[in-house]
Amino acid sequence: MNPRMKIQLVPPTERCRESFLCGLREFQHEGLPWWIGGDLETAEQDFAAFVKMKLADARLRTGTHVPKTHLWAVTEGKFVGRISIHHELNDALRVNGGHIGYDTVPSFRGRGVASEMLRQALPLARGLGLTEVLITCDDTNPASIRVIEKNGGLLRETKALRPNRPPKRYYWIIFS
Ligand SMILES: CC(C)(COP(=O)(O)OP(=O)(O)OC[C@H]1O[C@@H](n2cnc3c(N)ncnc32)[C@H](O)[C@@H]1OP(=O)(O)O)[C@@H](O)C(=O)NCCC(=O)NCCS
Repeated sequence: MNPRMKIQLVPPTERCRESFLCGLREFQHEGLPWWIGGDLETAEQDFAAFVKMKLADARLRTGTHVPKTHLWAVTEGKFVGRISIHHELNDALRVNGGHIGYDTVPSFRGRGVASEMLRQALPLARGLGLTEVLITCDDTNPASIRVIEKNGGLLRETKALRPNRPPKRYYWIIFS
């Protein structure tokens, strides 16, 4: 059993360039670059611009995007995971994505990173004025289910969205 890691959530920063790009390559290898989408090229070519873009997301509102705060989990100066908070829901996020999403760099999994990222992100979500947060998760993702339930997530419903895809769980964390 790997030791638990002490992590700090920080806004995207140029200081993590090397470890962030290493983490990205691990995600890519795993076939999981979905959250970075077309940003990957920018991140490799112009990290400063990439960081700026991530920071600007907190104020960006379009027909499909609501403002989103990105936070990176750092331990001993290294990027080990990411979490993001949508400041509100839209129709798409109500179905898939919710308020909060996270990923741990594969080589740092199983050491409490996601649990701690979510624990630290919740007061920040509250600080954005949210009174409750939705977290969606595949029914076949036991690690994420555990992370959410450990942080007080209440399962409100499970829905089959598409054939050949696992049912989606809808968890809410209510700030009392
Ligand atoms: C899900 C994910 C974020 C978890 O990250 P992590 O940093 O490894 O999570 P943690 O170490 O904080 O906690 C994982 C918990 O799940 C448990 N777990 C892991 N695999 C499990 C399994 N197969 N069955 C049951 N529990 C499991 C761990 O024991 C741990 O619980 P514990 O702290 O009580 O021991 C990570 O696996 C990941 O990035 N996956 C790909 C992206 C993803 O699924 N993101 C979430 C979308 S909703």
